[in-house]
Amino acid sequence: MNYQKHILITGGAGFIGSHVVRLFAQQYPNYQIINLDKLTYAGNLANLSDIESLPNYTFVKEDICNYEAIRELFIKYQISDVIHLAAESHVDRSIKDPFTFAQTNIMGTLTLLQVARELWSKSEKGFEDKLFYHVSTDEVYGALQMNKELFTETTKYDPHSPYSASKASSDHFVRAFHDTYGLQTIISNCSNNYGPNQFPEKLIPLFINNICQSKALPVYGKGENVRDWLYVLDHAKAIDVIFHKGKVGETYNIGGCNEWTNIELIKVLIKTVDRLLGREEGHSLGLITYVTDRAGHDLRYAIDASKLKQELGWSPSLQFEEGIEKTVRWYLDNKEWVEQVTSGTYQQYYEEMYRGK
Ligand code: NAD
Ligand code: DAU
Repeated sequence: MNYQKHILITGGAGFIGSHVVRLFAQQYPNYQIINLDKLTYAGNLANLSDIESLPNYTFVKEDICNYEAIRELFIKYQISDVIHLAAESHVDRSIKDPFTFAQTNIMGTLTLLQVARELWSKSEKGFEDKLFYHVSTDEVYGALQMNKELFTETTKYDPHSPYSASKASSDHFVRAFHDTYGLQTIISNCSNNYGPNQFPEKLIPLFINNICQSKALPVYGKGENVRDWLYVLDHAKAIDVIFHKGKVGETYNIGGCNEWTNIELIKVLIKTVDRLLGREEGHSLGLITYVTDRAGHDLRYAIDASKLKQELGWSPSLQFEEGIEKTVRWYLDNKEWVEQVTSGTYQQYYEEMYRGK
């Protein structure tokens, strides 16, 4: 098969990456999709079992920090584009172990950039027909107050957690490779995602599972922090639009225009899970347990996605109520997946995390 593009998607076995890989592999049979993932605790090939036999899909288990292996892979598959999602992604883990976050998120991104620069610059058309698309987070912008202010593409970077500091650094390297060497790059910064296949250490899947099992719901601080939630498939669709129509050198903010305080969101989760399990309304409210706040906890994130809407025509397609219903049903129907990904080392991590809280 003579593929039009050979796209390296990193982190494709993770939460968002698996939705992006599926969308691209199914929607574009004329693209070869190479999914590169180290399969850390957060990566799970079961997320992609439905597409693994597609002829245009290939999986490679590798670390993005391994320069030689990445170089060989670029040559072997004649990589023409990169969509880079591989990362350590959980803020609480970054507080415990910042080194791993610097290694993967900064050095891993730099490794990919260097390989792309080295090999693409020697190719027939140079950088001209190549794209390095970096998937990032709104956390690089820091925290907003409780007013109407939103993060725009020109908001000053002000990361607070080791996670957001490492993602901010990776964004800077991507821009530096564009400005210094002329590598064709695009960055998008997205708000909080939710949906199927999210590792149950993040708020929404963790709390759905705990409500099901009648376990305590550890709410950090007073539960007043605000996040802007977006259904994961809407993020994947935004990445598709930006990949195809985005302007090189630009940044696009992606968000759900859907702000919730944690405590109000948790009450929606309780109501939905209890209803779907046939429990009486309010049954699980007593599980709410206020615990010590997250260190450096950002008060509020909220995205202004008008640039993406006006210039590229993207907006979220799923209403939040529908997205939450779909997500809760998915976790109720996929208990085996949850057990599989949370067994062993995760259980140990979770015990340590909440001991004494
Ligand atoms: P995730 O933790 O679910 O998945 C990360 C994937 O990267 C896993 O499959 C893991 O195995 C892989 N990986 C980790 N280290 C690697 C390495 N050294 N080499 C190769 N693969 C490695 O993360 P996610 O929530 O799907 O996030 C994906 C990307 O999107 C990240 O870059 C994250 O910063 C960004 N993002 C996430 C959100 C969100 O709400 N989850 C929002 C905005 C942006
Ligand atoms: O904004 C985008 C970011 O969203 C992504 O870049 C990150 O990869 C992703 O993990 C997410 O970061 P958050 O820290 O916002 O997500 P998390 O699900 O960990 O927490 C959401 C909110 O819920 C936050 O205010 C902390 C709070 N929380 C979280 C957990 C896990 C709790 O109160 N209790 C918990 O047990």
